[in-house]
Amino acid sequence: MTRSSVPQGPSLWVEQPGSIDTDAWRDGLTADVVIAGAGLTGLATALTLLDQGSSVVVLEARTIGAVSTGHTTGKVSLLQGSQLSTLDKALPRELLDAYVAANRAGQEWIRQFAGAEGVSLEIRDAITYAATDAGAPTVEAELATASSLGLDVSALSSVELPLSITAGVSLPRQFQLDAGDLLAALARAIRRRGGIIVEGVRARDVHSGSPCVVRTDRGDVRGDRVILATGMPFLKRGGQFATIQAHRSYALAYRWDEPALRGMYLSVDEPARSIRDSEQADGRYLVVGGNDHRVGTGQPTTARVADLAEWTTATFGELTQTHSWSAQDYRVSDTLPHFGPISPGDDRVFVATGYNKWGMANGAAAGISLAGQFAGNAPEWAMALRGRVPTPSAIKNTLAAGATVAGDMAKGWVGAELASLPKDGPAEGEGVVVRDGVKPVAVCKVNGVVSRSSAVCPHLGGIVAWNDVEKSWDCPLHGSRFDASGEVLEGPAVTALSS
Ligand SMILES: Cc1cc2nc3c(=O)[nH]c(=O)nc-3n(C[C@H](O)[C@H](O)[C@H](O)COP(=O)(O)OP(=O)(O)OC[C@H]3O[C@@H](n4cnc5c(N)ncnc54)[C@H](O)[C@@H]3O)c2cc1C
Ligand code: FES
Repeated sequence: MTRSSVPQGPSLWVEQPGSIDTDAWRDGLTADVVIAGAGLTGLATALTLLDQGSSVVVLEARTIGAVSTGHTTGKVSLLQGSQLSTLDKALPRELLDAYVAANRAGQEWIRQFAGAEGVSLEIRDAITYAATDAGAPTVEAELATASSLGLDVSALSSVELPLSITAGVSLPRQFQLDAGDLLAALARAIRRRGGIIVEGVRARDVHSGSPCVVRTDRGDVRGDRVILATGMPFLKRGGQFATIQAHRSYALAYRWDEPALRGMYLSVDEPARSIRDSEQADGRYLVVGGNDHRVGTGQPTTARVADLAEWTTATFGELTQTHSWSAQDYRVSDTLPHFGPISPGDDRVFVATGYNKWGMANGAAAGISLAGQFAGNAPEWAMALRGRVPTPSAIKNTLAAGATVAGDMAKGWVGAELASLPKDGPAEGEGVVVRDGVKPVAVCKVNGVVSRSSAVCPHLGGIVAWNDVEKSWDCPLHGSRFDASGEVLEGPAVTALSS
């Protein structure tokens, strides 16, 4: 099996986390709107609100782009794999129209911002393809749905890549970008307009009121409104955790000495393969992605990275690998993003989540939608998406997700009951969940250091599982992740695994 030849680490876009200028923490921070999360959603929303005259403070638990946006594949497209035909099967047409309108608005927002701020956009045809007979009908359905929505799509029977396809659909003049460049430009524009961005501040709770008080690990921050742009919302009161699943996948970058590609690609076969190129200051790269799985399941994760590397070599020949990374995103039961109040009728606390790995255009659309909702002039698509009622298939998916979560919860506790610590402790790079009396404990060894913490996720009691490629403890219930010492990396948990 071809091994990934570089350690898991920063992406091609965010090679030096924490290198974007931000503001220092100070006590007594107050603004019209407090935003938790400095990914694309939080920063695009902050800028839109500043342009509308609101004051804004953005609180980021880690560093700008530390989670999904910094580790995306960065395609900004209206053709999104087989998303449109999937939504078409599950939703009334008005909601699909609203989804496309939201993405068109978000894509245009990024195009204009990038043009004004000198962020390079690489224009590409977006291509959805199948390499198997079984995948061809999905591509044909996507072509039919996209065409019925007025998108200028056409069928393809071959591609420029060394891939034999059974069906393809192409949408011209979409674009791809370097997410690090976009985030840095957004941060600069926000701070130029007087917005404040503070890194290393984790929001832990929000007290609704006038003003709202955001409780953080550094102190309180006050605002008339609060937006959780944190991926999965960390507040339990909206109940979003019951309808959202966290999915993680992998990306590898290679030196690419061939001409620039004309397309950016996503397959509909399982496992899906995402392919794009990227022009960087030191030359051109090829980025491949895929091997999606629910967070906290599907171990060993090293095998997923190795499989992706092997597929790349088999497809493109021997290339020099430079980067290996992974990230997760969130899928709502009805597969539509949610940008609106955390619970019906709440006019203080808002969330933006559920992009199903299509959060570039959707993240910018979230900003347009929320700023419009606050100003009372939200576009029609925003109100359609905000006011939707659960469809029968969404209810079925929510019940299925609940059953999966309950199953994972039971499996985690039973697994811990049955396991015992190897005589010599875990091997280097390994982690095990074992029983200590009645308590499940997580024991791992990384760089020679053995760490031991509770295996019970502080969010809602799931039992964490070891992720061997990222040396982290991942919760299968709602996607919280913790480093080897138990500190929170991402997800809805706001406190560490207890020691
Ligand atoms: C592998 C992969 C490939 C993808 N490729 C594409 C693509 O090609 N095109 C596309 O459109 N989409 C793609 N996506 C999806 C897209 O990248 C995401 O949907 C988007 O980046 C989400 O942005 P965000 O700002 O909502 O979340 P994030 O970028 O995750 O930002 C959330 C931020 O909130 C912070 N945070 C969390 N909790 C707290 C807290 N309690 N207090 C303060 N801060 C907190 C986090 O540290 C994080 O920085 C991909 C996703 C993945 C995983
Ligand atoms: S993320 Fe919810 S229980 Fe762990």
